[in-house]
Amino acid sequence: MQAPLTPKLCGDSTYLVAGGLGGIGRSVMKYLAQLGAKHIATLSRSGADTSDNKDIVNEMLEIGVNLTIHQGSVAETEDILKVQKAAGKRLIRGIVQGAMVLQVSSHHGVCDSYLILNRTQVGVT
Ligand SMILES: NC(=O)c1ccc[n+]([C@@H]2O[C@H](COP(=O)([O-])OP(=O)(O)OC[C@H]3O[C@@H](n4cnc5c(N)ncnc54)[C@H](OP(=O)(O)O)[C@@H]3O)[C@@H](O)[C@H]2O)c1
Repeated sequence: MQAPLTPKLCGDSTYLVAGGLGGIGRSVMKYLAQLGAKHIATLSRSGADTSDNKDIVNEMLEIGVNLTIHQGSVAETEDILKVQKAAGKRLIRGIVQGAMVLQVSSHHGVCDSYLILNRTQVGVT
């Protein structure tokens, strides 16, 4: 049986990881780096405001990746367009959807939670 192919990413393109600062997003970014990505953009509603996020920028730099953190929602076309504009001539060649909102709430609230998930994950994806 043939071994599965390992994808090779383009070092001169940008890869967008929506929700990239979350738990899975951080692992995905490191995996993309292993595959050859050199420019990764993240998009999250809280953006770059925490020192924890500065740490991940430095961590990615150490493995040769220029990480840019954008503030916005993956559910908003305008926010996606801003990321695209910031990427400039470096095309966005791949997008990973890792954004998620989980909410614990009462029975009535469950319906609201579903709407958040639906808009962020299902609608956008
Ligand atoms: N963790 C698991 O065990 C597991 C298992 C299977 C599948 N998954 C899937 O993996 C994905 C991520 O899970 P996770 O555990 O990494 O979650 P997480 O740690 O909560 O990270 C979610 C990230 O999404 C961002 N986010 C939320 N809403 C957003 C929006 N509208 N636009 C842009 N970014 C948004 C959050 O930042 P802000 O709040 O600042 O926006 C956060 O950085 C989800 O799709 C989940 O369903 C997770």
